[in-house]
Amino acid sequence: MGNVVAAGNGRDTSRPGPPLTVAVAGAGSIGVAWSLVFARAGHETWLYDPAADRRAAASRELARRLAALAETGLLAEDPGAIAGRVRVTANLAEAAGEASYVQECAPETLEIKRELFGLLDDVAPADAVLASSSSALTCSAIAAGLAGTDRCLVAHPANPPYLLRVVELVPGPKTAPRTVEAAAALLAAAGMLPVRLHKEVTGFVFNRLQGAVLREAYNLVRDGVIAPEDVDLVMRSGLARRWSVLGPFETVELNTRGGIDRHATVMGPAYARMGAERGQADRWEPDLVSEVSASVRRRFPREAWDDNVAWRDHALMVLERCWQAHPELSGPARTTAGAGQ
Ligand SMILES: NC(=O)c1ccc[n+]([C@@H]2O[C@H](COP(=O)([O-])OP(=O)(O)OC[C@H]3O[C@@H](n4cnc5c(N)ncnc54)[C@H](O)[C@@H]3O)[C@@H](O)[C@H]2O)c1
Repeated sequence: MGNVVAAGNGRDTSRPGPPLTVAVAGAGSIGVAWSLVFARAGHETWLYDPAADRRAAASRELARRLAALAETGLLAEDPGAIAGRVRVTANLAEAAGEASYVQECAPETLEIKRELFGLLDDVAPADAVLASSSSALTCSAIAAGLAGTDRCLVAHPANPPYLLRVVELVPGPKTAPRTVEAAAALLAAAGMLPVRLHKEVTGFVFNRLQGAVLREAYNLVRDGVIAPEDVDLVMRSGLARRWSVLGPFETVELNTRGGIDRHATVMGPAYARMGAERGQADRWEPDLVSEVSASVRRRFPREAWDDNVAWRDHALMVLERCWQAHPELSGPARTTAGAGQ
């Protein structure tokens, strides 16, 4: 787990850090969710938005989200106490003036983010980290030419970050290593699972993996192979269940006697043909398979393969029990359809 700061399949391995002042710039879906993450971690959290309607809505949305978490038993503290740590403001200098860390959550528009980072670089303390939630814009585009470009990075969350805790830390070429360290430490202490990318790449990793699945899903529907609802069923009931306890490399390690190396030998040619059908010529070269295999075997030693397979099956049984105990996991749309409406 070399690049995972707070390791674990969703286990809370974080240790709360000291209370800090944190700013969130932009009070839309992601901004409200991030403010919950930081306030839940005990930080005094400023939530800035230039739009009056968003400022008004943000407090209501925060209270609603906290109430839902409390109802599900996922809060260790009174929701009102957490909400009380979030202050909504129309003043960026007030929000960021004493912040140790700023999480930018403005619209996904380069001009808006560039201007906002320029302002933040002026008003935030010199040692504050400036992190963007951007889904696709890179740090080198957002923070180009700033005096404080070395303290900027992308910290791309999944939505909502207080439930899907993985966050991609993507430095630009000018980002200082200490910036990545500081962001990783603060986010891990707030219960997040920061994963460090070594360099900028379009879409980062979360959306590239999601994109690979979506591209193929669209292609299969276009080619008349399967109906859209059955793509969702295959994913929801098959791959996603498995992937909620194991990553794709871990999956093939435990699915194949002989592990990932044997999987690459036996199944590699078939996967290469599937790629070729889509115009992709990337092959699983032996050196690459060896590198991945070594990483997987550090986490899942081959000599414990049978035990690890038994653990996987146990994990799937726990999930199955959870699905059976909670029919609402089948989703509101499907529940409605099942009710004959
Ligand atoms: N929604 C997602 O699933 C998701 C997931 C990961 C990352 N992100 C990223 O998070 C960012 C925000 O996305 P969102 O879905 O919350 O968008 P959103 O449209 O819900 O919210 C954007 C907020 O930014 C405010 N805003 C406008 N101009 C601003 C400025 N100059 N300074 C500060 N705030 C300003 C708007 O009033 C609005 O409240 C985007 O970069 C997006 O790519 C979104």
